[in-house]
Amino acid sequence: MKYSDLPKWSGEAAKWAEEYFSTLDDQPVRSQVEPGDIKALLPENPPENPEDMEIIFRDFKEIIPPGITHWQHPRFFTYFVSNASPASIIAEQLVNYMATNSMLWQTSPAATELEERMIQWFGHAFGLQSGYSGLIQDTASSATLTAVLTMREKALNWEGLERGLRHSPQLRIYGSKENHSSIEKAVKLSGIGFDNLRFPNNLPNRSIDPEHLRDMILEDIDAGYRPAGLVLCVGGTATGAIDNLVEPIQIAREFDLYTHVDAAWAGSAMVCPEFRYLWKGVEGADSIVINPHKWLGMQLECSIQFLADPILQSKTVGLRPDYLRTKGEDRISNLSEMAIVLGRRFRALKVWFTLRAYGLSGLRDLIRNHVKWTKELEKKFCSDNEFELAFSSPLALFGFRFKPRGMDSELVTNRLFERINDDGRIYLTQAKIDGKTTIRFTCGTYSTTRDDVLMAYDVVRELGDRIKLEMTDGSTSRD
Ligand SMILES: Cc1ncc(COP(=O)(O)O)c(C=O)c1O
Repeated sequence: MKYSDLPKWSGEAAKWAEEYFSTLDDQPVRSQVEPGDIKALLPENPPENPEDMEIIFRDFKEIIPPGITHWQHPRFFTYFVSNASPASIIAEQLVNYMATNSMLWQTSPAATELEERMIQWFGHAFGLQSGYSGLIQDTASSATLTAVLTMREKALNWEGLERGLRHSPQLRIYGSKENHSSIEKAVKLSGIGFDNLRFPNNLPNRSIDPEHLRDMILEDIDAGYRPAGLVLCVGGTATGAIDNLVEPIQIAREFDLYTHVDAAWAGSAMVCPEFRYLWKGVEGADSIVINPHKWLGMQLECSIQFLADPILQSKTVGLRPDYLRTKGEDRISNLSEMAIVLGRRFRALKVWFTLRAYGLSGLRDLIRNHVKWTKELEKKFCSDNEFELAFSSPLALFGFRFKPRGMDSELVTNRLFERINDDGRIYLTQAKIDGKTTIRFTCGTYSTTRDDVLMAYDVVRELGDRIKLEMTDGSTSRD
C-alpha cells in the first residue's frame, strides 16, 4: 500500500461507510458475538510479508463489523452516547491524512490556533460570559485528573511535585455523591487517596447539600486536614443529577478550594439558552469539562476543558525540557503544557467543521429534539400502569422499572433488561438507583429520529408481555 493508493482505498472506505450507515438501522445495536469469537478469526502472529490491501479490506468487512456495538445506531439509547456527525467524520478523515501532532505550537500552528479559537467559540456557544481559556482533552477523565492534580498542587503550594507527598499535610477533596467514577479514579491516581474523597449528603433533589459541605470542611480543618478541592456535577451519569452550583462554589471560595464542574454530558445542552438555568453559577468554577463527543456530533475524542486561570494547570502538569523549547515561545501557547500527555491529536478540526456545517441553530435543534422525544417516550411509560418511573431529568434521560401486578419487580425488571439487549432492536443500560434495578433510557445519537425513540416503548412493551406470559406459563426457558 502506497500513498498513491490512497484515492482508491479512501474511495473504498467511503463506499463501505455509505453502505454501513444505510443498513445500520437493520443491524442489532449491541454486537451479538461471544467472548473470543473475534480473536478466533485472527491469526496468532503478524504476517512476515506484506499482504494485499484487497485481502486486508475483505477481512475487515467480514470480521470487524459483526464484533462492533454500533454507537452510531439510531437506537443506541445507553450509557451516554458518543456521537459522530457526518461533518465531524470528514474532518477526522482529513486529520488522519495529515496525522499531525499538535504537542507544541510550532509542531502544528494551525492546530493550536484553531483549538484556541474553538475554545473561544465554545465559550460563546455555551453562553459563558467570563473569559475562560482552555484546551480540548481526549476525554473527561483526563480533564478531571488534571483538575484534581491542580487541586493537590495548589493546596501544597506546588511543593508536592518536587518533594512527593510523604511529608505533606493530608488533603481532602469534596465531591458530589452523583459524580461519575472518573472523580474517584482521579483522587486515587493523584495520590490523594480515596479515603480523602468526602461526599457531603444530598438534598432530596440529589444536589449536594451546601450546609453539610461547609460542616465537613470545618470538621476536617479542625482535625488537621487540608481541604484542597471540590468536584460538582451538572448531569451525573446514573440519573442526570444536577448540583446547585452557586452556594457550594461560594463555600469553596471562602476556603480557597479549587473547583471543577463535571458537565461531560449535560454541558452540551447549554447551547440552548433555555437549559442554562441548570448550571447557574458555573462561572465561579475554576475548571469545567464538557464532552461534545457525547451530544454535539463531534466524535471521540472531544472533551472541552475550560479554565479560569490556565497558569494553575500548566504550573501543575506543564514541563519545558530543552528539546521542547522553540524560538518565540513567549508569543505562543503550547497546549500540551496544560495536559498530562505530550502528543496531541488534532481535535479542533472536527469542532470547526461541525460548528460550521450545522451552525449553533442546527445543534440546538439536535438537543431540543432529543429532549422533546425523550419526554414523549417518558410519558408513554408513565401512562402505562405496568411501568414505574424511577427518575426523570430535565434533559434526555429517564429511568423506569417493570412492575406488573403480582410479580417481583426486581426480578422482572432484570429479566426485561437482559431480554431487551439480547433482542438487539434497541440498546439500554441498567443502574441501581436507591438500591433498585432501574432501566435507563437516554437519547443523543446524531441520526436518531422521533420514530426511533418512540419505538423503544413498543419493543419494551412487547418483550415485557412475553416475559409475563412465560412467567405465568412457568416457561422461563430463555432465562
Ligand atoms: C458525567 C460524566 N462524567 C465523566 C464521564 C467520563 O467521560 P470520558 O469517557 O470522556 O472520560 C462520563 C462518562 O459517561 C460521564 O457520564
